[in-house]
Amino acid sequence: MDLKNILAPIADDMRQVDETIHARLRSEVALISEIGHYITSAGGKRLRPALVLMAARALGCKTDEPVLHAAMIEFIHTSTLLHDDVVDESGLRRGRKTANAVWGNAGAVLSGDFLYSRAFQMMVESRRMQVMDVMANATNAIAEGEVLQLLNCGDPDTDEARYMRVIELKTARLFEAGCRLGAIAAGQDESVQQRLHDYGHHLGLAFQLVDDVLDYTADAAVSGKNVGTDLAEGKPTLPLIHAMKNGGDEQRTLIRDAISHGRVDQLAEVLKAVESTGAIPYTRALAERHSRKAIDSLGDLPDSPHKAAMIELARFNTNRAA
Ligand code: IPE
Ligand code: IPE
Ligand code: MG
Ligand code: MG
Repeated sequence: MDLKNILAPIADDMRQVDETIHARLRSEVALISEIGHYITSAGGKRLRPALVLMAARALGCKTDEPVLHAAMIEFIHTSTLLHDDVVDESGLRRGRKTANAVWGNAGAVLSGDFLYSRAFQMMVESRRMQVMDVMANATNAIAEGEVLQLLNCGDPDTDEARYMRVIELKTARLFEAGCRLGAIAAGQDESVQQRLHDYGHHLGLAFQLVDDVLDYTADAAVSGKNVGTDLAEGKPTLPLIHAMKNGGDEQRTLIRDAISHGRVDQLAEVLKAVESTGAIPYTRALAERHSRKAIDSLGDLPDSPHKAAMIELARFNTNRAA
């Protein structure tokens, strides 16, 4: 099933989210609106807002409250992308030049700050202390994850556990938060919130594992991002970690050197080593295990089209090309 079909049960909600996003980009400073519209109108999958809405609706919430939270979480996500593309020196995002490539690092960082703080204004508007609590912790963890990753970059001794910690912080935390916000909007108690959190946790890990595979295997015309950016940065993601552990001496030396010096010119050779050690199926299999755990977390929640969509989304992730 494609993503549009999976998200059909929340299509009306997602249209409202889109309207809210565009309305809330308003600023008296024209450059902010320009950069904001540039990146948000390129689309993106809108997964995190979709999680808020699917969780809220699956748990019986009938109000518009989750729409504001959904738009807010997409702002947080978008601000992390604006900053991430500066840090990663990326040139392509959502099939367009990155904001840093068009407006320079300063414009991208500062408009990312605007989106980030606009998101906090929206949270305060909802007058829910619990929402602020969840989001303050999630955004703080993302920052920790990005800095932890910075420390791993260029370090070929990074192991699977250190890698998993990074992706848990930088990616899974926001998925967890989105799902929990849905449960909060539906007035659910901590035990139900925790189940939704667990779904988001495993889906988030699976999602980043697949993203890290796609950085080696994707078609940029489909994914909207360049391949090889992780290697260019010397980012030790699981495909490389597995290949170093399981390859021969020559392969290990090649990858260690590529990580230490960000040898993107060696991409073809590194890819060969990654492929011959089975690192891609290994990473995908781990993503699949987490997708299954995500689905299991929803276990005894009442059946609904929204719960079914959450299950489909976890399945979709494993095979996505973008
Ligand atoms: C990109 O997230 C950043 C990661 C956590 C891998 P998405 O793949 O959800 O980005 P968009 O919003 O769809 O562009
Ligand atoms: C995800 O990591 C970044 C954030 C959580 C902000 P990546 O650096 O792999 O994301 P992409 O590939 O640039 O979207
Ligand atoms: Mg990046
Ligand atoms: Mg990536």
